[in-house]
Amino acid sequence: MRIALASGDGIGPEIMAATLDLFRAAGVDRMLEFVPVEMGRHVFEQGNTRGMTDEAVRTVEECGILFKGPMETPKGGGGKSINVTARKMWSAYANYRHFRTLPGVRTPFSHLDLDFAIVRENVEDTYGGIEHRVSDDVTVCKRVISAPGTDEVMRFAFDTAQRMGFGTVHCGHKANIMKLTDGMFLERFKAIAAGYPGIATGDVIVDALCMNLVMKPQQYRMVVLPNLQGDIVSDLAAGLVGGLGFAPSANIGSNISIFEAVHGTAPDIAGKGLANPTALVLSGLMMLRHLGLVRHAATIENALLAALESGVHTGDFGDPSVPAVGTAEFTQGIIRRLGSEPRTVKPAVAPSGGTDSVTAVPPVRPAEPIVMHTFTGLRKEIVGVDMYLDGKMPAKETAADLERLCEGSPFRLSLISCRGTQVWPRGSVFTECVDYWRARFELRDGMTAAQPEAVALMAKVTQRHVVTEYALLRTFDGVRGYSMAQGQ
Ligand code: NAI
Repeated sequence: MRIALASGDGIGPEIMAATLDLFRAAGVDRMLEFVPVEMGRHVFEQGNTRGMTDEAVRTVEECGILFKGPMETPKGGGGKSINVTARKMWSAYANYRHFRTLPGVRTPFSHLDLDFAIVRENVEDTYGGIEHRVSDDVTVCKRVISAPGTDEVMRFAFDTAQRMGFGTVHCGHKANIMKLTDGMFLERFKAIAAGYPGIATGDVIVDALCMNLVMKPQQYRMVVLPNLQGDIVSDLAAGLVGGLGFAPSANIGSNISIFEAVHGTAPDIAGKGLANPTALVLSGLMMLRHLGLVRHAATIENALLAALESGVHTGDFGDPSVPAVGTAEFTQGIIRRLGSEPRTVKPAVAPSGGTDSVTAVPPVRPAEPIVMHTFTGLRKEIVGVDMYLDGKMPAKETAADLERLCEGSPFRLSLISCRGTQVWPRGSVFTECVDYWRARFELRDGMTAAQPEAVALMAKVTQRHVVTEYALLRTFDGVRGYSMAQGQ
């Protein structure tokens, strides 16, 4: 099977060379062909704002697997993170990170023998990067959580928990505050969990989760979270087992998956031969297992554990009384132990007998972009419209003006809020306001309306105000599909 290979920037080429040396020594190159692709800093520098060539895109889409080193995100100039672009454009929707206490890697939590996983939704949430400046003083970011997108992640999480023997899966969220977006994430967690009766479930608010992870991390086996919360919690989790140098990551999609270390390009040590390749090696082992090469993965993992246990370490970790080695010597320390098993920790096991074979297959190219559905055919009724206004006028005067503008329409002005807090008709003079208001119009008693009436009202409002956004208020099978303002 062919694997697209991008070494990355900074320490990327050093740790990738080390990982491939180790894989070669273990015979992985007899099963896999690594095909180099052009991605990263040098591609951005050629003026390509995507950071990857068309040829690279084609190769990744043919192979279905990308093994990559860290890549630098250009600062300013419109270039977006290549890592986020890759995950999103290839729908690598589940970010899976497995955290274990490793021998020779001392942390305040070493005695707990941790072994747990974080699954982070990888495509949606605020990582859509849908942002606008809407007034002199205000910027906004749109947060997207979809039912089918969440379902894919939940199915991956529960399938993985089942395969790995994690008996419990928790959902981390903030549904107490973001009742619709995180509410949907939690609701889909519960719906998908119903299909896995053998796995216990729980849910935990993300702030409490952070405290619990520091106070009693062993109570969790797998936690699944929305994108931004998962991003933060998974770095916290990495800290529990020794930091980013030991945090592997798999970005799993239905067609294309990406395997990479969690850490960045470490510009401070790049080119010095000092980098620790462990996280990339562990990411590579996730890739080998994903492809079906479970015996090769177990052999390499045991050699790595045996090396760590013997005190072989790079400068970023380990016993300070034992001299640190560079990347090449560290890698040789692992290669020399291929065939050995660790003595102080449980060795990795692979099914006995038989030989390894690649069970994954390259993706079949769909004829058109894929459209997913979870719910269809819900009865949707318009009950109002929110308009967002860029304006300096205080709420009371804006309200008087808007009330005049909606005379004769099916809608009445029901509230004005600022930064999500109601300031008209009720509110507190202590509520600090900025130059960006939400005006909520709701149907007058006994009236009905379709979109043209809402748009006609907006057209009238635009004669005297700048409307930056418009959002329909609708019910879905009778259930309100919008949030209330704080204080409403
Ligand atoms: P970083 O992870 O590159 O470095 C943070 C600290 O950890 C530095 O002191 C570094 O020397 C150390 N470190 C990281 N990996 C190490 C390793 N394998 N061995 C030994 N020490 C290691 O994070 P930073 O400095 O915030 O980001 C640098 C660049 O990396 C930025 O351009 C950023 O955009 C990019 N980046 C790329 C990622 C990816 O490609 N997946 C992820 C995170 C950052």
